[in-house]
Amino acid sequence: MREEQVLDKVFDRVESIPTFPKVAQQALELLREEDIDFKKLEKIIKSDPGIVANFLKIVNSPAFGLPHKIDSLFKAFMFLGVNQIKFIIIASVAKNYFDRDLKGYSLKTEEIWLHSITCGFIAEELAFHLDLTPTKIESIYIASILHDIGKIVLDLYLEIEEDEFYEVINEHPDWDFIQIEWVVLGVDHGLVGAHLLERWNFPKSITFAVRAHHDPDLMIQSDVASIVGLANALTNLLGIGQGIDSFYYKLPSELVKNLNLSREKLYKYLKIGFHKTLIFQREF
Ligand SMILES: [Fe+2]
Ligand SMILES: [Fe+2]
Repeated sequence: MREEQVLDKVFDRVESIPTFPKVAQQALELLREEDIDFKKLEKIIKSDPGIVANFLKIVNSPAFGLPHKIDSLFKAFMFLGVNQIKFIIIASVAKNYFDRDLKGYSLKTEEIWLHSITCGFIAEELAFHLDLTPTKIESIYIASILHDIGKIVLDLYLEIEEDEFYEVINEHPDWDFIQIEWVVLGVDHGLVGAHLLERWNFPKSITFAVRAHHDPDLMIQSDVASIVGLANALTNLLGIGQGIDSFYYKLPSELVKNLNLSREKLYKYLKIGFHKTLIFQREF
């Protein structure tokens, strides 16, 4: 079966395909303007009480280092930079998707959420290291925080049982988890996640990064995909969001060389990501 046919089969069967909130889309658009109208931004975000609640919860996490407890969006904007605001908007949207356990993948709600946020924090450090443009940084936030969203769709597609994965893992202990997913599900979560983000009209740089996040040969083809792939591998190494698949991916070591990352730098970014996640976790 061709890739498109496989995806049609998956998405046809899923009854409620997640959507990307218009509010977040509009907010991100406004944040791309040169002269940002923060009053307008507040008005846009305020129209979605769920995002407001998540936003304030996240913003008050010590990971963002604000001087005191913030109870209004506008005040929060005044303390934060544009990058941080974008990060928090995407993280608060993601919070709604990662709101239940993924039994087949052995993931609890909190684990998949923390895994995504850690990946975002580490990817951010890597993006700053490479001095990327704001457009690329935004793509990196979206792709890194939502890189595993395909797992949510697959969980809605089939009631996956851990045992089905373990059976194939035991038979082929040397296989990559992507191969295992193809045998059990007939598709993999990178491809499904990328397709979902395509439906949400995200640009190719983002969908490609999600598609490539477990494929070292693909991720090497773009800087956004490289960063997302590496940040995800490092998050797995840290053991954050340990699911059934954590030990069945390879670390893209070629990439570390290509990105000119010394051991010390890599350690530093890992440490920052880990530290931010730990203090973030305390709030949730
Ligand atoms: Fe993944
Ligand atoms: Fe992941």
